Parts: sequence; structure tokens; C-alpha cells
Amino acid sequence: AGAGPVVCACHGVGLDVITATIAGGAGSVEAVGAACKAGTNCGSCIPEIRKLLPEALARDAA
Ligand code: FES
Repeated sequence: AGAGPVVCACHGVGLDVITATIAGGAGSVEAVGAACKAGTNCGSCIPEIRKLLPEALARDAA
């Protein structure tokens, strides 16, 4: 509850947790995984995590 829609089903990590992790300084899929485990099991959520990274957002905005 309070973590937003689940992005990483393997570890039950919600969208809000991932965005907060990125806001806290995790700048890569690997850093997000190290901080909250998202993306460290099957990897199917990695494209979703990648889309949330600042560099991806900057690229989309360009
Ligand atoms: S859904 Fe995130 S590692 Fe499997």
C-alpha cells in the first residue's frame, strides 16, 4: 500500500518506490536494483525502470 502500481512483480516493488529511489540518486537500472531490488530477478521490468530514469526522460523531452 502506498507504493503505487507494481512495476517489479518479482520483488513486489511499486512505481512510487522506484521513482523515489531514482529521486534519491539512483541513476541507472543497476543502481535502482541495488537500492530496492527491482529488476534484479527476471529482468522483465527493466524496460519499465529504464523509462523512469532521468536520462530517459531527458531523451524523451529532447
Ligand atoms: S519483474 Fe522485476 S525482476 Fe522480475
